[in-house]
Amino acid sequence: MTAAIELEGVTRAFGAVKAVDSLSLRVGRGTIFGFLGVNGAGKTTTIKMVLGLDRPTSGRIAVMGGDPADPATRRHIGYMPEIANYYPYLNAFELMDFYGGLCGLDRRTVRARAAELLERVGLAHAAKRPLRTYSKGMLQRAGIAQALLSDPELLVLDEPFTGLDPLARVGFRELLRELRDRGRTIFFSSHELGETELLCDGIAIMKAGRCVRQGAVKDLAGDGEGNLERLFLRVLASEGEEAGR
Ligand SMILES: Nc1ncnc2c1ncn2[C@@H]1O[C@H](COP(=O)(O)OP(=O)(O)O)[C@@H](O)[C@H]1O
Ligand SMILES: [Mg+2]
Repeated sequence: MTAAIELEGVTRAFGAVKAVDSLSLRVGRGTIFGFLGVNGAGKTTTIKMVLGLDRPTSGRIAVMGGDPADPATRRHIGYMPEIANYYPYLNAFELMDFYGGLCGLDRRTVRARAAELLERVGLAHAAKRPLRTYSKGMLQRAGIAQALLSDPELLVLDEPFTGLDPLARVGFRELLRELRDRGRTIFFSSHELGETELLCDGIAIMKAGRCVRQGAVKDLAGDGEGNLERLFLRVLASEGEEAGR
């Protein structure tokens, strides 16, 4: 079976800046994959191309074996953006209705899944309040529920741990593991190294648009080099050697 996400020599240039530079990546189905890097490393740019919202300047991308720009491919993907600009006057149920409609789900399915998901992310008590009254962590939870609405094969999350309190993190980690155990693939960007080490099967570390490490967490972080945080800091510190800039 093809990989969930496959990139081959993908470059995305904005003028002279290569936001993503010759990136090759393989994310196996039914795995949790952490896409790491500091601000500006090229994570969001890559995610937008995986979602078919942006096209590479050169290189090739396959998602669930198809072209990411093809609606048939997108149907398999749930996405949570880095910054969610939801309509502030909607409440969480209405938000789910809105996205459910976009996904082409029928209203009854949406209602049932919305209730279950909002309960699951700890928002049931606030589901009838407008989103403008939500804290950052609550909006994050609403975003997670929205991304899961269509029960997607592939879940793409841009910095999902940012803004979550410790309790929410634990719950979210459990949720992602459960999804993986049901055969779903999760691809998320992060600079939360502790979370990533606990959760991920595979990781890639990005530095200035280039991938400087990729592989199984147990191979990369558990080979006597120390934990993932130490590896990450070492890789970033070796300026010039690997990333070339
Ligand atoms: N639309 C754009 N136009 C110009 N430069 C961009 C654009 N989008 C991203 N970049 C640049 O690409 C680089 C990578 O950005 P991004 O993918 O957002 O990084 P990350 O998500 O890892 O923080 C940055 O230098 C950023 O300024
Ligand atoms: Mg980003």
